[in-house]
Amino acid sequence: QAGAAAAQPLAGRRVVVSAGGTREPLDPVRFLGNRSSGKQGYALATVAARRGADVTLVAANTALTAPEGVTVVRVQTALELQLAVEKAAADADVVVMAAAVADFRPKAYAASKIKKTHDVTAPDEAPTIELVRNPDILAELVAARGDEASPVIVGFAAETGDETGSVLDHGRTKLARKGCDLLVVNEVGETKTFGQDENTVHILRQGSSHVVDAGPASKEDVAAAVWDAVQQIL
Ligand code: CTP
Ligand code: CA
Repeated sequence: QAGAAAAQPLAGRRVVVSAGGTREPLDPVRFLGNRSSGKQGYALATVAARRGADVTLVAANTALTAPEGVTVVRVQTALELQLAVEKAAADADVVVMAAAVADFRPKAYAASKIKKTHDVTAPDEAPTIELVRNPDILAELVAARGDEASPVIVGFAAETGDETGSVLDHGRTKLARKGCDLLVVNEVGETKTFGQDENTVHILRQGSSHVVDAGPASKEDVAAAVWDAVQQIL
């Protein structure tokens, strides 16, 4: 049975993975969205199931086939994703927030389609869309855990370097701010990561200066590196 244990290191573990990108509706035909395909989240769910975990995948607007043996909960908005993740996280050993969650949503939802001449008194004007903040689901999961060690909480951070710091600098700052156990940092750009089959990430661990680099590799190989890091904490 030693071989089985080695092949199924997540046997008996309940894990929750969020994937995809939330869509925040403006009116019945329009939304604010992002470029996340959900591929990395699906790869995480696939590898966890293969390692024996009981997996719930909270999928936001993905066009992918559900991995075998995984329970899929479909959501659209950040608020729906929060509800679904919190429900599944209640008895989970691990929560991985791979979803790209909209930081803001339109303050108002128009029940009927917004017309080009939305304001008859100023027919050439364009409307201004007011936004409000969405909850930070990851930070709230960390806060709800309090002093407990469980669940292990993993965040993802899509970063671009800028004049204030490198991709890794931004990752370290975010790991400290979020308080999760691991932060998987990936470099994004219009042609990098989004929708691609390969990924390059840096896995940062809370309280450690050690960095695990994974890739460029398939999203399943990157997922395997993330679960290896999680297993070290479990
Ligand atoms: N996240 C979340 N809820 C949000 C926004 C993000 O749970 N409202 C999660 C993401 O799923 C991801 C992590 O937080 O695991 C980091 O997301 P990111 O957008 O990089 O972080 P933010 O705190 O939103 O910071 P930024 O200003 O860089 O967007
Ligand atoms: Ca964000």
